[in-house]
Amino acid sequence: MSTPTLDDVLAKGVRGQRVFVRADLNVPLVDGRVGDDTRIRAALGTLRKLLSGGARVVLASHLGRPKGSPDPALSLRPVAERLAELLGRAVGFCEATIGPVAEAAVAALGDGELVLLENVRFEAGETKNDPELARRLAQLADVFVNDAFGTSHRAHASTAGIAAHVPRVAAGDLLRSELEHLAEIRSPVRPLLCLLGGAKVSDKLAVLEALTPHTDVLCIGGAMAYTFLRALGQPTGTSMVEEDRIEDARRVIAAAERFGRRLLLPTDHVVAERFAGDAPSKVVTLIPDGFMALDIGPETAARYAEEAHQAKTLFWNGPMGVFEMEAFAKGTEAVANAVAESAANSIVGGGDSLSAVNKLGVGDRIGHLSTGGGASLEFVQGLALPGVTALEKTAMESSR
Ligand code: 3PG
Repeated sequence: MSTPTLDDVLAKGVRGQRVFVRADLNVPLVDGRVGDDTRIRAALGTLRKLLSGGARVVLASHLGRPKGSPDPALSLRPVAERLAELLGRAVGFCEATIGPVAEAAVAALGDGELVLLENVRFEAGETKNDPELARRLAQLADVFVNDAFGTSHRAHASTAGIAAHVPRVAAGDLLRSELEHLAEIRSPVRPLLCLLGGAKVSDKLAVLEALTPHTDVLCIGGAMAYTFLRALGQPTGTSMVEEDRIEDARRVIAAAERFGRRLLLPTDHVVAERFAGDAPSKVVTLIPDGFMALDIGPETAARYAEEAHQAKTLFWNGPMGVFEMEAFAKGTEAVANAVAESAANSIVGGGDSLSAVNKLGVGDRIGHLSTGGGASLEFVQGLALPGVTALEKTAMESSR
């Protein structure tokens, strides 16, 4: 990555400068309070460095998916409160994102102070990467630091557009660390194991197609496994199957054969007659009529765990079953434990996989926990991330 680092910017001095930091503080809220502060904690390193360097930090993020206008349920105010607790210092909160109110809040900052702007997606131009919004955000900045890895796959005004209007840019410490770790999946120490789960083949098709030729072993779990089993002509009962993706699943299976890669599917299943946490369940090897598979079975979990132990590099994204229901969480938990126990260089991304890791308290035994679900998937499949390329472009133009 040919973009200045945060340390490069700090070395030139930031005291008294307005440093606009785009972070991904898109965290779950529960009853108006932050439910999981992982992403706020991940942003602390960059913020602490800037504040101790005397920068005037203008912090921006999105939260949820408001429809381009203010939605009080998606205000970043609770995030400002949690951030203040974690930083152990006052954090200003500005009810505007741009305009005179935001300009006044930024002008009132002293050296080493921070203000969090309101949700950037309350502005209609954000997700359209509107150049006018990008320009107005840039008016609040002498330096732009992008640290929002989780949103770097979005070409939005505050992630990509703004970089064209601020000559001094840098990649924040979180963004750099994420890119360095995920690059190890693109150039892995082999064998490389990818464990992919989740509900839909359609959500993961691009990553399946990109990773299959490149991965030594691909283990598939979650509801998307049943579209694959149907493609192989196996009984799937009333399990979720995407009829219009069966052909795609066949293509992935054929690609794995062609490239000599091992593609593993569940060989036993936890099934129930209803999609409900209290539905009676049983373990089967062939899914009976009238039953739906809601988790991988113990034999499959043991096979996937064995693969995790053999791997040298490991990437896991997506749950193996309906893990939010206790009765169907065992497969995901077994995989989380196996990933933690594996000596492989392990990288876990995606909200559900991270929740499983956090629930089991094994996070400190995973090589890297990515704060980006969609962003990490796009990066490992070799796609350019607009939030990163915009930084690189500005850095290159500024160095001429
Ligand atoms: C995420 O949670 O994956 C990021 O914050 C991006 O959010 P988005 O999918 O709403 O753009």
